Amino acid sequence: MFEEGNRLRAERGAENVFDFSLGNPEVEPPELVLAAVRKIVSGQRPRAHAYMPNGGFPEVRQALAQRQAQATGLPFAAENIILTVGAGGALNVVLKALLDPGDEVIALAPCFVEYRSYVENHGGRLVVAETRADFQPYLSRVAQAITPRTKAILINSPNNPTGVVYPAQFLDGLEALLQQQERPVVVISDEPYRALAYDGIAIPETQRHLRNAIVATSWSKTLAIPGERIGMLAISPRIEEAHLLGDACTCTNRILGFVNAPALWQWVVAEVGHHAIDIAPYQAKRDLFWEGLTRMGYRCVRPQGAFYLFPETPLEDDVGFVQLLLEEGILAVPGSGFGRSGHMRLSMTVSRSTIERSLPGFERALARARSRQEGGERRDDPSRRIA
Ligand SMILES: Cc1ncc(COP(=O)(O)O)c(C=O)c1O
Repeated sequence: MFEEGNRLRAERGAENVFDFSLGNPEVEPPELVLAAVRKIVSGQRPRAHAYMPNGGFPEVRQALAQRQAQATGLPFAAENIILTVGAGGALNVVLKALLDPGDEVIALAPCFVEYRSYVENHGGRLVVAETRADFQPYLSRVAQAITPRTKAILINSPNNPTGVVYPAQFLDGLEALLQQQERPVVVISDEPYRALAYDGIAIPETQRHLRNAIVATSWSKTLAIPGERIGMLAISPRIEEAHLLGDACTCTNRILGFVNAPALWQWVVAEVGHHAIDIAPYQAKRDLFWEGLTRMGYRCVRPQGAFYLFPETPLEDDVGFVQLLLEEGILAVPGSGFGRSGHMRLSMTVSRSTIERSLPGFERALARARSRQEGGERRDDPSRRIA
């Protein structure tokens, strides 16, 4: 998509290309964050840029443990926190620590494209459990996917690519299911979008609801600093061998080649507290885009968080429909890449005006898809309709 975007920009001029393919925040980091960087760089803290224990600077881990304790009501200590190279690093670190060859990890589809590679990086096997048409999980499908080789269940809420938030009832149901298992199964909760929730919706704290839960997260989206690669693992103190898992992750953080998370950004995230980017512009763009598309006839679950829309494609063939959009200068990612064909992902990390100016192109592509369908495949079967 990246290459295609460059080709289209050269061909049509940048103002005529509507690139919804990348989840790269278009806003600058908040001034508070930049001020924290300046303060740390100009401060005289000795050894601020040196190697530190692989899990992170002890003071930073302590500050983050306090925050996690406040959020969850659990007795988090510094050793339950591992600073990582983004959420991607956090996931790889914990998977490397947990998996033996052939172990299975269940993910709920549609899901982040990289999960399969992350699991396979460490000899594991990704097992996919489908979600409903509105992308909420079926507990029964998760139950069916569990085998004696299941080590972990990977969840992501608010979700990329759908924007749905999993409710507390699902987490409680999952906890009951996991309590029935003979062997421990951990839940890895990938939460880089936690701060991006709309309409004042409260995202349930995974570790309050699930005993064996590990949070993998980052400040990439929360502070609009994805290139700085700072994230963390929070290992619940309720996990029976939490200290051993923490030791293993400290080791895997080092041997995967990261060695440690970036020193400067460890200090920054400790300094800025719970601060996050202003989500109001994203919510307004969600409303503009979702209302614009659904009004003209696209079917789309209304995102509750993150910064993506995941509408149905008017053609069953999502790759074919994405080609039609390309002819309008619009770049979208086919849903099949996320494990759900017949859909496409649209990232809202663009300006309002890009969304506004793209809408006529979406309308023309919809009309062309409909005329192509005349007498052929149709997608208006009411049983597929999303409430
Ligand atoms: C669901 C999900 N998990 C993990 C990541 C990786 O985040 P990071 O850039 O912090 O490594 C992303 C990035 O887009 C994501 O969408």
